[in-house]
Amino acid sequence: MPKAEVERRVQDLLGKMTLEEKLGQLQQLDGSAAGDHSPELLELARKGRLGSTLNVRGAKRVNELQRAALQSRLKIPVLFAFDVIHGYRTIFPIPLGEAAAWDPAGAERTAAIAAAEAAAAGVRWTFAPMVDIARDPRWGRVAEGAGEDVHLGSVLAAARVRGFQGADPSAPDKVLACAKHWVGYGAAEGGRDYNTTDISEERLRGVYLPPFKAAVDAGVETFMSAFNDLNGVPSSANRRTLTGILRGEWGFDGLVVSDYTSVAELVNHGYAADGGDAARKALSAGVDMEMVSRLYNEHGKTLASAEVDEAVRRVLRVKLRAGIFERPFADEKAETVLLSAPFRDEARLSAARSMVLLENRGVLPFSKDMESLAVLGALADSRADLLGSWTGDGRAQDAATIREALREALPKTRLTDSLDDAAAAVVVVGETFDVSGEAASRSDIGLPSGQLELVRRAHESGKPYAVVLITGRPLAVPWLAENARALLLAWQPGTEGARAVADILLGDAVPGGKLPASFPRSVGQVPVYYAHKNSGRPYDAASKYTTKYLDLPNTPLYPFGYGLSYSSFELSGLAASDAAVSVDVKNTGARAGDEVVQVYVRGPAGGALTRPVRELQGFQRVTLAPGEKRRLDFALRPDAPGPWQVFVGTSSVGGLTGSFVHK
Ligand code: GLC
Repeated sequence: MPKAEVERRVQDLLGKMTLEEKLGQLQQLDGSAAGDHSPELLELARKGRLGSTLNVRGAKRVNELQRAALQSRLKIPVLFAFDVIHGYRTIFPIPLGEAAAWDPAGAERTAAIAAAEAAAAGVRWTFAPMVDIARDPRWGRVAEGAGEDVHLGSVLAAARVRGFQGADPSAPDKVLACAKHWVGYGAAEGGRDYNTTDISEERLRGVYLPPFKAAVDAGVETFMSAFNDLNGVPSSANRRTLTGILRGEWGFDGLVVSDYTSVAELVNHGYAADGGDAARKALSAGVDMEMVSRLYNEHGKTLASAEVDEAVRRVLRVKLRAGIFERPFADEKAETVLLSAPFRDEARLSAARSMVLLENRGVLPFSKDMESLAVLGALADSRADLLGSWTGDGRAQDAATIREALREALPKTRLTDSLDDAAAAVVVVGETFDVSGEAASRSDIGLPSGQLELVRRAHESGKPYAVVLITGRPLAVPWLAENARALLLAWQPGTEGARAVADILLGDAVPGGKLPASFPRSVGQVPVYYAHKNSGRPYDAASKYTTKYLDLPNTPLYPFGYGLSYSSFELSGLAASDAAVSVDVKNTGARAGDEVVQVYVRGPAGGALTRPVRELQGFQRVTLAPGEKRRLDFALRPDAPGPWQVFVGTSSVGGLTGSFVHK
């Protein structure tokens, strides 16, 4: 719909609305997931006082509530929202796992499938992508984002917005996207969810804002304000970020929804004296729609009418852009697309591309002619733990277990759950789905107790074995790194994840994933990330007085950007000129495989601020046949004149070096 037409219709509707109807549009309520709608919800809808719901889905249920809303005086449709974070019914790897594929086109495809399934179920708005940069793996929500890096996080934020919304979010297989959690939520002190954040202007601008800006540039229609106290002003009442930056600097004209009761929680923060104060502060700061708490409606008469009107304007604008006036109802025959074979195929591909081979001491891939294979570990027989957190309407029963997938792929091999009479072993260890995601921070990020003993037994048997690591976060696994005969990081790989694990273990897929977040040696090292500052006393083994621990190296267990393959690759011919870099990559192994070529820069000294020792500015994942060589070109974005260093490699460590002078 043309912009001018949208604005005309917004103005026309606004002019007819009573205060009650306006406040109703600023209210989002939590609808039950199944069964009859509550009488209250139906009544509010009939009175035109229900702007939006979360958690109501299923075409029939959506349509029942929508019919009530269209009985209202102005017939403004309800906007149905749901958390479709990494799939609706077909569940893809958790976003952190998908980030390990370094594959924006793949991320766009999975978001598009998630949108198609969600839209078929009557959902018109998803609360995704989560674009919080996270550098503390104790924080359970590290699972939901794209890891530690600004560039990778920004590229994936834009890809996911494009996948969910497409060119026109009113299309029948698209949904509104939502950049969350605005802003700084991932910097929670102690890695404890919902905890205080204290972020300098330099780090806010340099680390936490850019992925949100990438989402705005990709056309995201909505934002969600966060729970956290940001430098003393909670993000859900922070006028500087919500209006000054988001609207003033970036020109965002969509809507901002609060997080779940985060408006009411301004009282807990001690930032609002009471509910009325919280309502006035949140609305005035720039939160347009209140999720679940009802303070805007309870204190509506004390709210500034111009601010109410502006918030309603934004809600109506986004509803028109979502096309729900023209197409308010869900197609009750569309749900047949859920979990279709092509969607399952994409889930299997996405899972395999997300997996990261951390160690391989001559074991993988296993031969399909193995006489016997022991499959060990409780997670080898789990379905739900492969789906991870925030699984939409995904169902554990849709997923195979890793044992089942191996049995399917190895019809001639005797599978056993005992090491004694097996020629080789797969040991599946890691986290259950419920110890990452929201409100699931861990103070200890090692393997859950008892699992290491299982791996040690396999190790002591002297037989070839591979460890498969299921996890929602980076884990401190130094013994595995030092000893495991093979170590495959599978994350929480989704509905087809078990089959993807089998594909990788048996060589039907070649691992090509790279870490989107550093793996610490110990929780005591946190935060550890590659784009760190040099400090005035950078580490020097020969000197006592340099930045270091007495009991650990400074380097992580596994660095950002790291991952092995079943093949080997060589980089050569680096050419670096002002803002452009090119390099040859060659598959020097005997198997086809993927490599992710990564370009890092270090900016000139002498500027107003210190700079990280490295910053990712470009990457390309390529598939090469044995012996194949390809030249890759990268554009760079130097932001200051002077000498720039360039590092081109296959992780954030080492690589070919070059330099250029930016005029
Ligand atoms: C939760 C989460 C947010 C989610 C919202 C709705 O508390 O913080 O990410 O989208 O509430 O479920």
